[in-house]
Amino acid sequence: MLLVICLLFIAHFVERTIAKFDRRQTSGTDILDWIDPLIGSKSGGNVFVGATLPYGMAKAVADVDGENTGGFSTDGSNITGFSALHDSGTGGNPSLGNFPIFPQICPNDEINACKFSIGARATHYENDSIVARPGYFGVTLENGIKADMTVSERAALFRFDFSNTSSVGNGSSDPVILLDLTDLWASRQNASISIEAEDGSTGGRMKGNGTFLPSFGAGSYAAYFCLDISGGTVKDSGVWANDRAGTEPKELYVTRGFNLFYLQAGGFIRLQGPLSRPVLARMGLSFVSTERACQNAEREILSPDSDFDGLVTTAQMAWREKLAPISIQSGGVDESMLTSFWSAVYRTMISPQNYTGENPHWQSSEPYFDSFYCIWDMWRVQLPFLTVLDPIMMSNMVRSLLDTYKHRGWLPDCMMSTCKGWTQGGSDADNVLVDAYVKNLTGIDWDLAYEAIVNDAENEPLEWSVQGRGGLTSWKKLNYIPYLDFDPVGFGTNSRSISRTLEYSYNDFNLATLARGLGKDTSTKYLARSANWRNLFKPDQTSAINGIDTNFTGFFQPKYLNGTWGYQDPIACSPLADFCSLTSNPSETFESSAWEYMFFVPHDIGKVVELLGGIETFLKRLDFFHTSGLADIGNEPVFLTVYMPHYAGRPALSAERAHYYIPSQFNTSHAGLPGNDDSGAMASFTIFSMLGLFPNPGQNVYFITPPFFESVTVTNQLTNRTATIRNIDFDKGYKNIYIQSAKLNGEEYTKNWIGHEFFTEGWTLELVLGDTESAWGTQAHDRPPSVSNVQGTMETRL
Ligand SMILES: *[C@@H]1O[C@H](CO)[C@@H](O)[C@H](O)[C@H]1NC(C)=O
Ligand SMILES: *[C@@H]1O[C@H](CO)[C@@H](O)[C@H](O)[C@H]1NC(C)=O
Ligand SMILES: *[C@@H]1O[C@H](CO)[C@@H](O)[C@H](O)[C@H]1NC(C)=O
Ligand SMILES: *[C@@H]1O[C@H](CO)[C@@H](O)[C@H](O)[C@H]1NC(C)=O
Ligand SMILES: *[C@@H]1O[C@H](CO)[C@@H](O)[C@H](O)[C@H]1NC(C)=O
Ligand SMILES: *[C@@H]1O[C@H](CO)[C@@H](O)[C@H](O)[C@H]1NC(C)=O
Ligand SMILES: *[C@@H]1O[C@H](CO)[C@@H](O)[C@H](O)[C@H]1NC(C)=O
Ligand SMILES: *[C@@H]1O[C@H](CO)[C@@H](O)[C@H](O)[C@H]1NC(C)=O
Ligand SMILES: *[C@@H]1O[C@H](CO)[C@@H](O)[C@H](O)[C@H]1NC(C)=O
Ligand SMILES: *[C@@H]1O[C@H](CO)[C@@H](O)[C@H](O)[C@H]1NC(C)=O
Ligand SMILES: *[C@@H]1O[C@H](CO)[C@@H](O)[C@H](O)[C@H]1NC(C)=O
Ligand SMILES: *[C@@H]1O[C@H](CO)[C@@H](O)[C@H](O)[C@H]1NC(C)=O
Repeated sequence: MLLVICLLFIAHFVERTIAKFDRRQTSGTDILDWIDPLIGSKSGGNVFVGATLPYGMAKAVADVDGENTGGFSTDGSNITGFSALHDSGTGGNPSLGNFPIFPQICPNDEINACKFSIGARATHYENDSIVARPGYFGVTLENGIKADMTVSERAALFRFDFSNTSSVGNGSSDPVILLDLTDLWASRQNASISIEAEDGSTGGRMKGNGTFLPSFGAGSYAAYFCLDISGGTVKDSGVWANDRAGTEPKELYVTRGFNLFYLQAGGFIRLQGPLSRPVLARMGLSFVSTERACQNAEREILSPDSDFDGLVTTAQMAWREKLAPISIQSGGVDESMLTSFWSAVYRTMISPQNYTGENPHWQSSEPYFDSFYCIWDMWRVQLPFLTVLDPIMMSNMVRSLLDTYKHRGWLPDCMMSTCKGWTQGGSDADNVLVDAYVKNLTGIDWDLAYEAIVNDAENEPLEWSVQGRGGLTSWKKLNYIPYLDFDPVGFGTNSRSISRTLEYSYNDFNLATLARGLGKDTSTKYLARSANWRNLFKPDQTSAINGIDTNFTGFFQPKYLNGTWGYQDPIACSPLADFCSLTSNPSETFESSAWEYMFFVPHDIGKVVELLGGIETFLKRLDFFHTSGLADIGNEPVFLTVYMPHYAGRPALSAERAHYYIPSQFNTSHAGLPGNDDSGAMASFTIFSMLGLFPNPGQNVYFITPPFFESVTVTNQLTNRTATIRNIDFDKGYKNIYIQSAKLNGEEYTKNWIGHEFFTEGWTLELVLGDTESAWGTQAHDRPPSVSNVQGTMETRL
């Protein structure tokens, strides 16, 4: 009897749970409930967790003094200000965070008792007070001041509620909003501010500018702000410097003085308290002028006093619309999988940022996107994902890259805060353009794209640390980038000879693809150059870990100009050794080991399989790589290695590996990313893996594995057709992750990969699953194309 009741209860519970799923997924409920912006907010994810529109320039959040690369972190550190320009997921120096504002009440209402410098004003927040949702961020400081914020395209609206601050106010009640002429990295070179706030008036304005340094690039940039404070009567206003403030003068100019001394300075406006309503701070931003910053604010947030909720609603609608092309039938999987998925989709649209109309460097009617930070990180999965989800936007981004080429003479490789960023490997914008080409993005001048890529391939810039390629003389003459190259033509970090050789090979392969498509006779030349990677393969190179031979032979090695081999331990720059970046420990492989780069030949994995001794040793090596600690799952070069078994006719092993990493390394915790999100690269690895179609960008190829959900549909914006991928015999516990057979539009389909037509034509792929590996997708003619494999597939691809 008891048992029966229990069963009834369980049945009821299951029914309710399923009902909840259906509600959330089909109609009526909110897709935004599945988005947790705090994923990746600590332990190096560096994700921007605040309020932004899709691709928006204004990004409002609380800034902290801990892991603040993206502004905020849940690492327990203290809040130092609230600002509205940010990047997301980047590594290294914190980016932007210009002109932070900070609310407080000065003891005894004495302005000089206020806390001005960052160290003095840093305040912890109530741990459970953080609310992060698309278009909204809120937090309550330990002193009771509640801050929340939302944004429009180029302006932010902050609210500061002082009504619970009596405990720290010491009987004082006049709210002060100070603005600090700094950024997160304290890179300010000079700045100015002026204050327009009549005592007794119903609000006031602080406006000005600053020149700052890009967080991973050359030169400097100017940013402009226009801050309107309202919600009370102005008591007084003025400027502050060196922890001292005064109501005169109303203007301030700061620069770097003796020994580059960093003066902390800014402005303040004080209102008469106590206030029963929040203080409103509307922050307009621009990269062009102060007037423009004010216009942006006035145009986008007409009435700070009443617009807050409307702005949040507008932002939510914009996000819902961006997420609408995808729909999921979860099949009852753990809800965290849905949260992981949708949060990742959300994160792919934080950057790049649409700065159209905010470009200070040239006038153009073309779109201008910024925060390609960096293309080395983005070309592999994030931009290919936007090609699937948001092809019109992607086409705008490609046009922006081409417009940059037109006006700067070079495609960018990395770009932030309107500056040129440092190049990490090859000229990877080439790969972005050609991926767009093979996927038929529209509205792009392909002849201009060809010209821009040929420029990368043929002409060495004087400074190849920010654009183009270095060592082109050797590249053309010797067909590899030599170790310790002699290159008097141009200048850059003369390291990474192995990874640059591999990257330039793939850049040239992409150029060959475009040349072929456009009917240019140069395609043969560039296809030949795309084989240069083979010149650094040393067949007898061995590798040991702690003195124990790994028993794998054949690795890429550096080679001198004279053809003699150099040496780099194949495990160097792996997680078992030191990290190798441009500045720390520069080596012949960039941010990854010779072990990992062995698999970076995206166009000719077939040849890699052959060089490594055939399928069996290739798979053994892949397996050892992923299980020995050599693989760095937290950085982009590793991504493709997860899907390499497809080239060996073992798609089942790719599916196993994807499930090995998700959710163990990509999950919903605040520390749920294995490395910097890099604008949404980690996010896109998660998405493509869960969708069951993983790209090899630059080629019209997606590797097929079973989606992590029962079925998924994606509607293509350019054709309005809807593609469906459906698992049959799906099991929510992920035992059935092996494809037994497949049907494409009702016809048997044995290839383990498919082209982008799947999305543009709106095809239907049905995968019958089972709990053991099958013969599906294993035959030579079922494998994805490689340049050296004569499988007839190459022709259709080029
Ligand atoms: C808040 O969280 C931080 C960091 O996790 C911790 O150090 C602190 O003790 C917590 N404070 C409270 C009041 O729980
Ligand atoms: C609080 O106010 C009292 C009276 O004005 C003053 O004596 C005291 O120093 C103040 N305390 C602080 C911490 O400012
Ligand atoms: C954060 O600020 C609190 C005071 O609000 C201080 O006690 C604590 O030491 C600070 N923590 C850090 C990590 O700076
Ligand atoms: C003030 O505190 C009360 C009681 O804790 C709380 O209900 C209210 O939401 C708080 N108001 C603000 C603006 O934080
Ligand atoms: C501000 O700094 C930038 C970068 O160092 C410099 O180019 C510019 O001349 C400076 N402006 C003023 C007004 O000093
Ligand atoms: C910033 O504003 C000051 C004062 O108006 C002006 O002199 C300076 O040229 C401006 N700097 C920039 C980079 O626009
Ligand atoms: C970029 O921003 C501009 C200015 O707000 C807007 O007109 C344009 O439509 C945006 N571009 C895209 C592709 O959304
Ligand atoms: C490589 O082979 C040697 C000799 O058989 C063996 O001792 C060693 O453990 C092997 N290395 C690994 C990593 O298995
Ligand atoms: C080639 O150059 C390297 C580096 O200068 C040198 O160590 C090596 O001996 C040279 N090899 C030959 C054959 O000259
Ligand atoms: C979530 O991912 C992080 C980062 O990769 C990892 O450290 C952690 O162990 C994962 N958590 C779970 C529960 O798998
Ligand atoms: C797709 O649908 C939208 C809205 O329904 C329409 O405006 C657009 O013209 C359609 N595009 C194509 C290619 O059919
Ligand atoms: C691109 O267009 C060509 C020519 O119309 C067509 O053959 C090809 O299938 C299209 N590719 C995709 C991915 O839609």
